Amino acid sequence: MSSTSARSSSSEDLQNLSPAEAESHYFNSYPPPKALKNHEALARAFISYHVESNRRVVLVTSGGTTVPLENQTVRFIDNFSAGTRGATSAEYFLQEGYAVIFLHRQFSLLPYSRHYSHSTNCFLDFMDEEPAPSSSSTTTGFTSGGNGDASDHGRIVVRSEYQDQMRSVLRKYRYAKQNNLLLLLPFTTVTEYLFELRSLAKIMRPLGPNALFYLAAAVSDFFIPRDRMAEHKIQSSEVPAGSSSSKDASDSSAIAESDIYTGHNDPQPPTHSKKLIIDLDPVPKFLHRLVDGWAPDGSMIVSFKLETDPSLLVNKARTALQRYSHHLVIGNLLSTRKWEVVFVTPEPDGERWIRVPKSKRSKSISGVENQVGLAEGKRPGDVGEEMVPTEQQGHGQGQGQVQTGGTGAEPEQGQGESENEIEIESLIIPELVKMHSEMIAKAKGEKKK
Ligand code: PMT
Repeated sequence: MSSTSARSSSSEDLQNLSPAEAESHYFNSYPPPKALKNHEALARAFISYHVESNRRVVLVTSGGTTVPLENQTVRFIDNFSAGTRGATSAEYFLQEGYAVIFLHRQFSLLPYSRHYSHSTNCFLDFMDEEPAPSSSSTTTGFTSGGNGDASDHGRIVVRSEYQDQMRSVLRKYRYAKQNNLLLLLPFTTVTEYLFELRSLAKIMRPLGPNALFYLAAAVSDFFIPRDRMAEHKIQSSEVPAGSSSSKDASDSSAIAESDIYTGHNDPQPPTHSKKLIIDLDPVPKFLHRLVDGWAPDGSMIVSFKLETDPSLLVNKARTALQRYSHHLVIGNLLSTRKWEVVFVTPEPDGERWIRVPKSKRSKSISGVENQVGLAEGKRPGDVGEEMVPTEQQGHGQGQGQVQTGGTGAEPEQGQGESENEIEIESLIIPELVKMHSEMIAKAKGEKKK
């Protein structure tokens, strides 16, 4: 579409803007999301509550962003992320005493309820109906619903084999709620995400070094700018002559390829099946602005880097760290992300792998076990090296420890869905907390000088 349609600014022009100019260009092009004002008010109250008690607050971003193809959106581009990393990490941050702002893709996984949601962990599978008081056998068929004869109704209960696990999850969830430790804020599109991120970062300023950013969301890299977005549903066949859609379309510039349909700016909706060509611009990278402008002074910023090619991962993570000058990039491969990650820090030898021991790995449908270790370019012979906790990880800030070597004590905490499994986030978060504690201590030391 770029060669055939007029644009207010070409993507080349936009790439030459300074980060601050790119910011105002982007945010002035869109109306703020409808929920933003309400989210800002909730966030302000949440932050001032925790500033008062000097508690650390982490902003966890989670899930994928969508890229709408139409203003009145019927179709959109999405990505794979279910929000597992974000939702799981949020729980371990809460366990470490942090308050959590959970900025998540609407309907993606949430802390605590993730154990009992979606089709993989459908909550109904954890429940049972007890025998009805008047009958000696469990009801097996359908009952008439809430208003019928109660004599055939048994109590709904959690199945006995799940009682302990559910009690533990429920207690943690209730603790977080009762103590105002978890704020859930949803987004859907990439634009909503960026508006929310900017506002929240600014609202978090009073936290200073007590703020941590943990950017685990899978943010879209390409989008259709507003000035090129179709208003109505992109048509796949002829619309009646004289309709407003056909008039809109005829205002647009001509296209050369008669068999290519690009949506809004085509002279005619297609009269027969054509290819739909979608021309996407790069989404501006706002990590720069987060680091240099929006985030509180002294706060810690952690971003993620996802790759599928093992040979690229560490270099791409390092490049991101150099480009944005923040504190840590956590690299992960799509195929092994549940079992290994790499911490890339600014130090010259700043590459550290964190792995779940083989015997403790969770099952993963998308995971490819024989790719574990492949991205560790420095020492290809070290496949299978593992980092495990050296001591039981405690509650409270800054107590988690990991060391290199697969023969250390087996972890007791951080267990996943089955007794033996551990979630990699139970190793990641204590490490981060340690780094954050060091940064806070340094900031306090500098303030005293
Ligand atoms: O949800 P799961 O299924 O558990 O998957 C978790 C995950 C693989 C999505 C997660 O662990 C992860 O890697 N998230 C980041 C993936 C990603 O978007 O990488 P990126 O290279 O596109 O972006 C790198 C960083 O730049 C991100 O932290 C992002 O916040 C930031 N970014 C990205 C795009 C953009 N336009 N602006 C940004 O600031």
